[in-house]
Amino acid sequence: MCGIVGYIGKDKCLPKIISGLESLEYRGYDSAGVAYVTKKGIVIKKEQGRIANLKNSLNMDEEGYMGIGHTRWATHGKPCQINSHPHQCGKITIVHNGIIENYDELKKQLAYDFKSETDSEVVAALIDKLYSEEKDMIKVLTKLKNYLIGSYALGIIVEGDEKIYAIRKDSPLIIGVSENGNFIASDVPAILEYTKMYYLLLNDEFAVITKDNVDIYDQNGQLCTKSLMTFEGNREAAMKNGYEHYMIKEIFEQPKVVMDTIKEYIVDYEHLKKRMNGLEKYNAIDIIGCGSAYHVGLVGKSLISKYAKIPVNVDIASEYRYTEHIYDKNHLIILISQSGETADTLAVLRKAKAEGIDTLAIVNVVGSSIAREADKVLYIKAGPEIAVATTKAYMCQLMILSLIALYLGINKGLLDEKVLCEFTKMDELLKDVLDNKDELAEVAKTIYKNNDIFFIGRKVDYALCMEASLKLKEVSYLHSEAYAAGELKHGTISLIEEKTPVISIITDDDIRLKTLSNVKEVCARGALSIIISNEKITDKQLYDKLILVPKVHELISSALVMVKCQLIAYYVAKLRGCDIDKPRNLAKSVTVE
Ligand code: AGP
Ligand code: GLU
Repeated sequence: MCGIVGYIGKDKCLPKIISGLESLEYRGYDSAGVAYVTKKGIVIKKEQGRIANLKNSLNMDEEGYMGIGHTRWATHGKPCQINSHPHQCGKITIVHNGIIENYDELKKQLAYDFKSETDSEVVAALIDKLYSEEKDMIKVLTKLKNYLIGSYALGIIVEGDEKIYAIRKDSPLIIGVSENGNFIASDVPAILEYTKMYYLLLNDEFAVITKDNVDIYDQNGQLCTKSLMTFEGNREAAMKNGYEHYMIKEIFEQPKVVMDTIKEYIVDYEHLKKRMNGLEKYNAIDIIGCGSAYHVGLVGKSLISKYAKIPVNVDIASEYRYTEHIYDKNHLIILISQSGETADTLAVLRKAKAEGIDTLAIVNVVGSSIAREADKVLYIKAGPEIAVATTKAYMCQLMILSLIALYLGINKGLLDEKVLCEFTKMDELLKDVLDNKDELAEVAKTIYKNNDIFFIGRKVDYALCMEASLKLKEVSYLHSEAYAAGELKHGTISLIEEKTPVISIITDDDIRLKTLSNVKEVCARGALSIIISNEKITDKQLYDKLILVPKVHELISSALVMVKCQLIAYYVAKLRGCDIDKPRNLAKSVTVE
């Protein structure tokens, strides 16, 4: 949810820590702070608001060669200076990402004069108490997990000790290594300016970092050897690469990353079979996710249930985790998550595993919690997705679900292996759609001043409407609603008035005419009708604007529609001057419940 960056080395630490935090701004935050060690001791500066506010309180050239920085996304205590991190108790200063569920109980047991409302300050006090008893941070960090319930990535400095300590459980943390010093960070972009080499800390592992050494310990406090990872992407992969926003950059990356994902699975049918092997044994599938991950699951349901001929249920993780389920003896739960750290989705995974249900994760971030803890993981190859509003990751998740439907359909004899070839055209098809981006910029001009925009469709088209509507809301702050086209007349049509924009998605042949009659209904009430379809529509009374997509196999058709919807959302947001990559109130990875 928030950003953590620490540095200890030969260079002054403030510029490195602040630039690291700036590269993590996409994760969403409401305040920022830094603790650094000077000859006079530990200095703490922290401010509510953007990192720029923090920088105003700092002398970036100040002597100080080790420090820890933080951007906060509040969960306990409102966004304000006092609740910002770092938090200091006694000799201990920490930054924390995550939620400590038993903080209240711990707080009562700790005799400290707490200044903030946060759970994090309680962690600082606990560590200080343990340290005063043990006088040995390795023992303290080995014991810490016995006290804390919840999620945490911690950066810790101890008064008079030239080391940075780092420990994590369920919130991501990496250890960057370079010739000039070593880093801790929530994510790779924070260290790319200085190094591509890093260690991935796993749950309950902790690190002891000096300016020229990194020791990593397992949960029992034993030194362990870890393989050093190299970030494959280059710095450009995490920067904007000439585009105005990460979102449009990532929309235009889709032809490449979709093909990267497809190639990972379908060199030929045998390769697909090897990757998907075993999926055919399941008699029922639940697809779980949040937000766009849930929406792509709805498209997956439509395709997989049709070709696998098994019941497929899709649910929102924050609902599913609290409801009882009757499982078939061969039941599979598919968890979809770009970040692999979404708290509610991770909770479903753990509950499923506790109940002995097989789990399959479709994830982007390598080594993320959901990826590591699922029984099986199918990685997408979307690369770092920086914009808060997901586009390329959604698209790659969609491809994986289509490939699962393809595999099961071939297995059931309902699809011919030749359909594989449809997928090999994806990059060209997506490029063609993207080449016509101006058409969508024009559509955006006709709707960006409206404040109620409806997306309507049936079956898989309705599932696409859900994601199209969320995209628009997320980045443009316009109210939008996705509605089952056949349901409008049961109430909501009362909201349609002169020039209300209604965007209809019509690609499914079976219900084309039905949806067109729903379009007639809204046109009769004066709607501004925009239709996205894979067939020409002769009755020009039905639309003010017709957006055509190529008519292709239904296993790949949704992707082409979605690119159009992503572009509409982007151009509307641009016209409205919104903070497209970092929309208000949103975070890229929701690691809190
Ligand atoms: C998508 O544009 C949103 N940012 C949000 O709905 C996101 O899809 C959701 O939070 C799930 O995130 P995840 O895929 O990382 O689990
Ligand atoms: N729970 C902590 C707080 O509210 C940390 C939140 C975060 O991950 O930024 O300060």
